[in-house]
Amino acid sequence: MKPELRIFHDSERLSRHAANLFIEESNKSIRQRNRFLVALNGGSSPTRLFQLLAAEYREDVEWGKVHVFWGDERCVPPTDEGSNYHQSHEALLSKVPIPEANIHRVLGELDPPSAAKQYSEVLKSFSEDGFGFPKFDLVYLGMGEDGHTASLFPGSPFDVAEPVLAVTAQYQDRPANRVTLTQLVFNQARLVVFMATGEKKAGVLAEVLSDRYNPAQYPAQRIDPKDGQLIWLVDDAAASQLPRKIKGLKICEG
Ligand code: 6PG
Repeated sequence: MKPELRIFHDSERLSRHAANLFIEESNKSIRQRNRFLVALNGGSSPTRLFQLLAAEYREDVEWGKVHVFWGDERCVPPTDEGSNYHQSHEALLSKVPIPEANIHRVLGELDPPSAAKQYSEVLKSFSEDGFGFPKFDLVYLGMGEDGHTASLFPGSPFDVAEPVLAVTAQYQDRPANRVTLTQLVFNQARLVVFMATGEKKAGVLAEVLSDRYNPAQYPAQRIDPKDGQLIWLVDDAAASQLPRKIKGLKICEG
């Protein structure tokens, strides 16, 4: 399926669109498979999305059938401000009627290799078709100013055989020890939604969406769902260096 780029005037509209995708996809997945498997991202991009789902959009989701996972996690305790679990728990999960048993967090309090091993086991228990990990209904991803996504950083090996990896990477002032799912998992998803906002992402977004394929340097380019759909949600600022037309990409104004 051709990837889509949806451009929004501001991050508020973008977040509302992202929330609508959550509602649509959860309703569809629950209708078809009686559950909804979603992987969340960390960083600042999903904050408003979490708030919307916790408040205005709360009643539109059948929370009892939602299973939440993370595309990556920083190895800090779950109560630490730097934990992706903590961030989504504060803004969303503590405010909606999702069963505790449906929250599948990475045990960030462990050392990275142990946390990665533990998460591989969690993913295995949701495996379909012998993959060793679930086919996610929806994956949200952010993108760093260096083109990283989840905790797949520039220069990291992209020919990976494992669905989950322990990683050490310095980015801004965020915790360096991390666990990440790899493109093996993301590329089996039914829908992957990237969110990128702000002028600081404009240069790297233009590079990532160009036909200059350099997945070693720009890990976001590693994401290419095999049978699923890829949608980029960006705001005007992030889109400011994009050409009007991009080969292989359907562009629409949100
Ligand atoms: C993390 C992330 C990471 C994030 C990007 C973008 O745990 O840090 O999942 O991949 O999505 O760094 O972060 P912002 O949304 O803050 O720009």
